[in-house]
Amino acid sequence: MANQNEISRRRTFAIIAHPDAGKTSLTEKLLLFGGQIQVAGAVKSNKIKKTATSDWMEIEKQRGISVTTSVMEFDYLDYKINILDTPGHQDFAEDTYRTLTAVDSVIIVVDGAKGVETQTRKLMEVCRMRNTPVIIFVNKMDREGKDPFDLLDELEEELMIKVRPLTWPIEQGMRFKGVYNIYENKLDLFQPSKQIVTEKIEVDINSEELDNQIGTHLADKLRNDLELIEGVYPELDQTEYLEGHTAPVFFGSALNNFGVQELLNCFVQIAPSPRPIEAVEREVEPEEPKFTGFIFKITANIDPNHRSCVAFCKICSGKFTRNAPYFHVRNGKSIRFSSPTQFMAQRKTTVDEAYAGDIIGLPDNGTFKIGDTLTEGELLHFRGLPSFSPEMFKYIENADPMKQKQLAKGIDQLMDEGVAQLFVNQFNGRKIIGTVGQLQFEVIQYRLLNEYNASCRWEPVSLYKACWIESDDAAELEAFKKRKYQYMAKDRDGRDVFLADSSYVLQMAQMDFKNIRFHFSSEF
Ligand code: G4P
Repeated sequence: MANQNEISRRRTFAIIAHPDAGKTSLTEKLLLFGGQIQVAGAVKSNKIKKTATSDWMEIEKQRGISVTTSVMEFDYLDYKINILDTPGHQDFAEDTYRTLTAVDSVIIVVDGAKGVETQTRKLMEVCRMRNTPVIIFVNKMDREGKDPFDLLDELEEELMIKVRPLTWPIEQGMRFKGVYNIYENKLDLFQPSKQIVTEKIEVDINSEELDNQIGTHLADKLRNDLELIEGVYPELDQTEYLEGHTAPVFFGSALNNFGVQELLNCFVQIAPSPRPIEAVEREVEPEEPKFTGFIFKITANIDPNHRSCVAFCKICSGKFTRNAPYFHVRNGKSIRFSSPTQFMAQRKTTVDEAYAGDIIGLPDNGTFKIGDTLTEGELLHFRGLPSFSPEMFKYIENADPMKQKQLAKGIDQLMDEGVAQLFVNQFNGRKIIGTVGQLQFEVIQYRLLNEYNASCRWEPVSLYKACWIESDDAAELEAFKKRKYQYMAKDRDGRDVFLADSSYVLQMAQMDFKNIRFHFSSEF
């Protein structure tokens, strides 16, 4: 029973956003409410500045920071909050996709002036694949931005989700007066400040007090707006939210700590506690007494003097206890962890026990691969984490004939960590690395040299997309592979991948081979 109470008070989520929308600012304000930091400005942004792309050590320093801030946990009211950080730089988007498999819900931050941006759209796609519940925070209301009604339309259309505003802005930019809290019937007046949490005034929307506070003109406009909202957007149905069909929307300014507490208070109430997780064999309920978990992220410490990795494990069920023997399903071995860690804002501490919903860091020296499952003995495999078609492709070649073995080992281990994707061309046997951005190629080259003493060279290959293919028609599949033999590759799990060199070629292939399914993600 103790387990049950511990589990139901947990809220494990990620904040996702297009770079610069305000993720770091919002995270910091949430930590402020959790008492993890005392003043704003204490959390360093882990985003990699654009200017740093050529300065490798600088990037590493910044990534070093992100190890400790990868998970931030704190208590708020009766809840235990776990925020999973996601890399700010979009070249590491793959990392974010994987992190999303370990959360029970997400908060999406949208810049009120820019609306929905590319990265937000992509991340939402991943949430949709798993029906992850979503809350939207429209940020930067202290700046001139889009009309809030237009923004709601844009959110619905671009993110393909129904929305329901729970707070509503009164003007914006220089004229920004505050927000009306629709679900609590409170007026929250804006005072620009990074530290102070503004007071809320309880006002009935039809009272004269509202006119006294914001003037008759704005009060009337607010009444009209709210009437329109009530007419157009049905009341929030929590089940709709939990199933990922409707997103509550909040407005505010993270930088000014405005509208953040409203968001947090509503979040802890409606966001889900750890949800059941689908394994290949069966569905695993968080309340089950026995421990199960999976590795969703591995972070390497690049400092050659302290080479160690941390494997991040999401606990799916039961209770994890330090020094207890756990079963590593893939290699069939029993392991004890003497120094598992949990993460506070900028500290790491050793934990003695942790519950479903929590994330623990396990010291790793090559024992783990992304997706590995730990149990108390059951042969369980949590469903594979999806790989998405990379955006960029290059041949990787050995630049030092004496170091062939080191290179192969390095590539193998970096791929286990999920740094990028490897495809082996079936026609010429050459290895192709696929990434989301240029920066990942630099990471790989640097790490191969520094950690494995292997040097590599990149050679161009012009490819458009990697498609995982399958068909019930074995003959057609064979015919396709024969026709496209120069473009057929295997992924690391030995599955067939078609490397299309242009969108036209892909379209033609789809038309010519109607019985073949082309997937842009490895989970289908
Ligand atoms: P990110 O993690 O999503 O990339 O965004 P981050 O919080 O770092 O915010 C990006 C920029 O937007 C920062 O400015 C930040 O100060 C600003 N910002 C965030 N929230 C608000 C807001 O509510 N109102 C306004 N006006 N600005 C906001 P910067 O100049 O890039 O960095 P800094 O010098 O302020 O740190």
